[in-house]
Amino acid sequence: MAASSNAAIQPPLWLLAELTYRCPLHCVFCSNPVDYASHAQELDTETWKRVLAQARELGAVQLGFSGGEPLLRDDLEELVAHAHGLGFYTNLITSGVGLTETRAQALRAAGLDHIQLSFQDSTRELNDFISSTRTFELKSRVAAIIKSQGYPMVLNCVMHRFNLPHVGRIIDMAERMGADYLELANTQYYGWAWLNRDALMPTVAELREAEALVSVHRERLAGRMRVLWVSPDYADARPKRCMSGWGAVFMVVAPDGRALPCHSARMLPGIQFPDLRETPVAEAWYRSDAFNRYRGHAWMNDTCGECDDREHDLGGCRCQAFLLTGDAGQTDPVCPKSEHRGRVDAILADAEAERRTEAIAAQPLRFVPGAARQGRLVYRCDANSHAFGSAQGPAR
Ligand code: FES
Repeated sequence: MAASSNAAIQPPLWLLAELTYRCPLHCVFCSNPVDYASHAQELDTETWKRVLAQARELGAVQLGFSGGEPLLRDDLEELVAHAHGLGFYTNLITSGVGLTETRAQALRAAGLDHIQLSFQDSTRELNDFISSTRTFELKSRVAAIIKSQGYPMVLNCVMHRFNLPHVGRIIDMAERMGADYLELANTQYYGWAWLNRDALMPTVAELREAEALVSVHRERLAGRMRVLWVSPDYADARPKRCMSGWGAVFMVVAPDGRALPCHSARMLPGIQFPDLRETPVAEAWYRSDAFNRYRGHAWMNDTCGECDDREHDLGGCRCQAFLLTGDAGQTDPVCPKSEHRGRVDAILADAEAERRTEAIAAQPLRFVPGAARQGRLVYRCDANSHAFGSAQGPAR
């Protein structure tokens, strides 16, 4: 454990409880680790309750229940009730599979504050193709259930080269469903999205066109529905302040109890992430080497350490630096000052070249049973997790 002064470190505000890596969907951009099948063990109910209580005692106020699909845990209602009793503001992040009217009522009674429902597209064909499941109609029904229970309607759609041309129709769909908030989250290339990067990567022109349309709709919908466009950081050439800083406000707890500073961190080599089955949350947060590794400025190289923007972006994303350079301590290569920016430009140039040859057009945009074994996309599933578990990086 690295020594560190508690006085200089703020307590965590956000806890993301990844209750399980199990999921009925097989999304090609899933943010779970590619080797998730090797970490199949899950905390039991009592251990989760202890972890939540310790995090709340430390100061955490926001709690997301995520996965995988958190509804696959049949103790979800019990955990929500426990978290509500502790004073957390609770959020369920779900694909919608398993959210029946009865379950939505039970979660409401347990004190759940908020539900975020994911869609993959505005069309059944692409929604079902990208998730390799027939779930579009089900998600539409679940949206109505969420609305009927009086929750704020929050929809999330991960954007990539296949659905960017549909962005206007996705916004229309959200409006029809009575959404209060729509998050259009451009794909972040970690986990399964990293494996599928070449197939998912849009061109800069495609992104700009979609963003312009989003702006028009945002103005039209002002006061009725908020539309958030999460920056496609390869194209924006500005490193993001990832997780608001490593170990600054956010703790992810993986299904097996590993405490992580972000969803992707467990792929980083040479870091021992604290196991909350045996390590108290405060010990993990304040004193573990894992959470202290990239806090503050001491870890920065000269490019970041001497940069006027270092307080703004904190050097960008450590996982992206690792995937693109093989070294998590490098400047995030999306930054124009990074000596590795050429790698990002080459990836964007490849997307342009690919579009000219239209090689991707051969991929069928519809649900195909067994699609995991076909084409260029690697679907998230246990068999592929075992097969591709060590293939997530770095620097390809
Ligand atoms: Fe891990 Fe950005 S996703 S630091």
